[in-house]
Amino acid sequence: MRGLDISIIGATGAVGAELIKLLESSQIPVSRLRLLASPNSTGRRSKFREQIYIVEPLGEINDAKTDIAFLSAGSAVSAEWGPRLAAQGALVIDNSNAFRMHPNVPLVVPQVNPSTLAVRPRLGIVSNPNCSTIQLVRALRPLVTAFDIGQIILTTYQAASGGGLVGIDELLHGTRTALDGSAAPSAERFPFPLAFNVIPQVGEIAPEGVTLEERKLVQESRKIFGAPHLRVTSTCVRVPVLNGHSEAVYVEFEEPIRLERINELLANEPGVRLYADGIRDGYPTPRFLEDPAVVHVGRVRVNPENPRALWIWVVADNLQVGAAFNALLIAQLAIANNVIGGT
Ligand SMILES: NC(=O)c1ccc[n+]([C@@H]2O[C@H](COP(=O)([O-])OP(=O)(O)OC[C@H]3O[C@@H](n4cnc5c(N)ncnc54)[C@H](OP(=O)(O)O)[C@@H]3O)[C@@H](O)[C@H]2O)c1
Repeated sequence: MRGLDISIIGATGAVGAELIKLLESSQIPVSRLRLLASPNSTGRRSKFREQIYIVEPLGEINDAKTDIAFLSAGSAVSAEWGPRLAAQGALVIDNSNAFRMHPNVPLVVPQVNPSTLAVRPRLGIVSNPNCSTIQLVRALRPLVTAFDIGQIILTTYQAASGGGLVGIDELLHGTRTALDGSAAPSAERFPFPLAFNVIPQVGEIAPEGVTLEERKLVQESRKIFGAPHLRVTSTCVRVPVLNGHSEAVYVEFEEPIRLERINELLANEPGVRLYADGIRDGYPTPRFLEDPAVVHVGRVRVNPENPRALWIWVVADNLQVGAAFNALLIAQLAIANNVIGGT
């Protein structure tokens, strides 16, 4: 296959940096790579496959054709640049919330709904789901396929890196100043200081009291599973973890379930690592994840009070599973299906 012209917009961000690393070690042939960010980052250098690349301001891409454009610079940038880049022939893979619920934009998790990218999307744009959604649907896919689900109730424990590089810095700085007493607690990226705290709000709160993150989990999991009536409800919580989102997920089924069958389904699910008796000891924690490309599942247990319900604990690297790795898998799927612009 010919080398592809690839642009990464938001290349200096938390997700962009992961994407460069994953692209570098992938088999995707790259004939030209453009790294773009805001004017603040112009001139920064990044190494990719033994070459040094200079970060350009996004405006520089104006007249350039590109085969694949990864957008990782927030919803406003995506809303402006996604349609422009697609109109120039690019397949746009968007990490933001800008187009996820658009009826003509596939919302793709390659392990779960690859058929939605069998043909080139009408608008030339593919959306990467929200990080919390990706790990949830990857863990639940075998259960949703095998059984009728009554409802899903979850609490998330979301890392600072979900708020980008600023979020990581805010947690590190806030922790240091709390320990040495050098500054009063302050918050910019999060609603409250995150160090030594938990914050039951991720995203804006709508008038009905549900946050944007909680709404994304409902809408996106319904779209990905093709189940418009799936009942999902959550409380999304920011915790003082640097990277790695965790979720305590309660699933109610229409019929009684057996733990052995659930463990068998999870153990055989590609891209899911099950921590269970006889398979792996213990349970996953976000700080010590061994493989950032898989979804880690533990504490699987049937509710002793209700044989139709179980709890599972789901942990994943939000920057990789929840963003960059999923975007790269989308690109690989699009290449395999020959739906890249200009090919
Ligand atoms: N973090 C996660 O876990 C995660 C997971 C899923 C999806 N996402 C989504 O991925 C996107 C990036 O998130 P992130 O965590 O990587 O954020 P980040 O660390 O804050 O990085 C933002 C990137 O966007 C660039 N940027 C900002 N404004 C720009 C503008 N006007 N023009 C051009 N570039 C601009 C920044 O460039 P400068 O460095 O020059 O400012 C930087 O490269 C967001 O849409 C986010 O919602 C993030």
